Amino acid sequence: MNMVTLFFLFVCVYTALCSSIPLKYDKIYSLGDSLADTGNFLHSGAMTNPVIGKLPYGETFFHHATGRCSNGRLIVDFIAEKYSVPYLPPYLTIVESLKLKGEHGVNFAVAGATALDSKFFYEQGIGQALWTNHSLTTQLGWFKQFKSTICTTKQECDRYFKRSLFLLGEIGGNDYNYAFFLGVTVNKIKRMVPSVVGSITAAAKMLIEEGAKELVVPGNFPIGCLGAYLTLFETKDKTAYDENGCLKAHNAFSKYHNAELKLSLEKLRHEYPQARIIYADYYGAAKALFHIPRHLGLENGALNACCGGGGPYNFNYKARCGHIGSKACKDPSTYANWDGVHLTETAYRHVATGLLNGNFTSPPI
Ligand SMILES: *[C@@H]1O[C@H](CO)[C@@H](O)[C@H](O)[C@H]1NC(C)=O
Ligand SMILES: *[C@@H]1O[C@H](CO)[C@@H](O)[C@H](O)[C@H]1NC(C)=O
Repeated sequence: MNMVTLFFLFVCVYTALCSSIPLKYDKIYSLGDSLADTGNFLHSGAMTNPVIGKLPYGETFFHHATGRCSNGRLIVDFIAEKYSVPYLPPYLTIVESLKLKGEHGVNFAVAGATALDSKFFYEQGIGQALWTNHSLTTQLGWFKQFKSTICTTKQECDRYFKRSLFLLGEIGGNDYNYAFFLGVTVNKIKRMVPSVVGSITAAAKMLIEEGAKELVVPGNFPIGCLGAYLTLFETKDKTAYDENGCLKAHNAFSKYHNAELKLSLEKLRHEYPQARIIYADYYGAAKALFHIPRHLGLENGALNACCGGGGPYNFNYKARCGHIGSKACKDPSTYANWDGVHLTETAYRHVATGLLNGNFTSPPI
């Protein structure tokens, strides 16, 4: 191999400039909730949770609050980095700004968003708990709106979205969170699963029909390991906890949702063999955080929140992260949990690595 070839090989590997070996994706679109929101909720006013618009949210890496529900980058940011795509601009800022065009993708995710429409929660009498009404349906509407400004004919659209990656979720976790936090029983919440999974699957279908060729659909995290759940459902009954100190029943619930979602995606693959429908196992990718936290450099364990107002898991509902009476830890990189509900940048990086190296995506991303 001569030096010129060697040089170009390096250019190809280390930059996105080389056209003969193109990077796999040149655009990324994201829909979902606070696990993926890079600023839509904040831009929509964040009336129900203004603290995410100020420090310590965003203190790591960005050094200012961006609307991300963490100290730093999210899974979607690490995926963008991997494919040398700029961090996804939030849709609501694109709509207002003439500068941002979304040529490398757009983020439609909104913190607090649900897979089911807000109407469902109002009918159940728990609508007042919602952070936002920008549910999955709203986000799909935004996508269609955005698409109509990009292309018109099928051929034109297919060309535009040819190397796009669609991240559909995580979404659905909040549908359950709202119900759990209001004291609805596990058995009753289980009855929501078919509708939540149905709504995610319908969204996947719609995106494929709109031109998506590669779609990542994540399942839910082990919610029984989150400080908010551990605090709210704390019990003296030792048999309620697994070997990592997580709540068994709540983790089992996440597994149940994930199993149903996987079944539903399998059916969808038969219906749309031309699309690559990838299941992302957030549960599996996060498991090591809770199982061997210290081995991963999380010296302060995985269950305690870095930012909070005290209590056994440093989650105090009356003094949640960002509110009076709470404070952030010195070194978030030694924690998996950021605020009792969301994970730290370190934890999200770990999960993203597990997805991107193919261990927790099937088929591999
Ligand atoms: C959602 O919509 C309902 C009904 O239109 C409204 O009363 C409520 O304030 C909205 N909630 C949020 C968080 O915007
Ligand atoms: C997948 O996980 C295994 C076991 O944790 C690890 O040894 C392996 O390196 C991982 N695969 C990749 C491609 O990183």
